[in-house]
Amino acid sequence: MALLELSDLEKSFGAVQVLNGVDLQVDEGEVVGLVGDNGAGKSTLMKAVTGVYPVDNGRVQFDGEDLTQIEPGTRRSKGIEMIYQDLALAPQQDVANNIFLGREPTRRLWGLFPNFVDKVKIDQEAQKMVDRLGVHVPTIHIPVGMLSGGQQQTIAIARALTFQPKLVIMDEPTAALAVREVESVLQLIRQMRDEGIAIILISHRLNDVFEVSSRIVVLRRGNVIADLQRDETDMAEVVSYIVGAHT
Ligand SMILES: Nc1ncnc2c1ncn2[C@@H]1O[C@H](COP(=O)(O)OP(=O)(O)OP(=O)(O)O)[C@@H](O)[C@H]1O
Ligand SMILES: [Mg+2]
Repeated sequence: MALLELSDLEKSFGAVQVLNGVDLQVDEGEVVGLVGDNGAGKSTLMKAVTGVYPVDNGRVQFDGEDLTQIEPGTRRSKGIEMIYQDLALAPQQDVANNIFLGREPTRRLWGLFPNFVDKVKIDQEAQKMVDRLGVHVPTIHIPVGMLSGGQQQTIAIARALTFQPKLVIMDEPTAALAVREVESVLQLIRQMRDEGIAIILISHRLNDVFEVSSRIVVLRRGNVIADLQRDETDMAEVVSYIVGAHT
């Protein structure tokens, strides 16, 4: 059984049909590259997986459960994480706080304040995660806004990994990065895969996709028009599907 199984997903915004019956399966520990032209529906499809966009039709199954009607917070707690294109970090907050953003551990203070944010625990756990991933930041107390694009991307990854996800969706993680930073993000993707995490990588950078994916799925006008094993295809073929030479 696949970890993620999407069947016949449809989604419209007003009169515009953006997803036209998408079927897609992703297995445990698999890295799937999701590619397609601007506006093909990649981000929309992934937001249908996280539940940010409810679908008009079709089914989202994850880990043997039907999550189609389940809200995003619950899907997240079941192991679906998405790192958005804009990263959604809080620039003025430090690295540690960003890793726990929205899910801060709390403790009871003096038996009075039940939801006291446990900053000590946040710092300890964040430091562990940064060490584990080999993230290069001067200190976890530096505001995230002062880090480079690549460092910010790794902090967003660290945040996604803090609650043991089974699937991590990454939307254009390398688009804005310098060469060396790209390499460290790709390395993190391999590391996650080796830990058994499934990854869906959305990218226009086919080099990056070919480097880490075992399968490449091409979306065009809201349809999956190709689902290819990386070892059985090449960049020219993938490009031909992206630009619609087959349709
Ligand atoms: N919230 C929304 N409201 C209305 N239309 C939307 C919304 N989100 C996306 N769309 C439309 O859906 C289509 C697919 O957009 P989507 O962002 O999924 O494409 P994409 O494949 O991620 O493109 P890109 O590679 O440029 O990020 C586009 O025509 C877009 O304008
Ligand atoms: Mg997009």
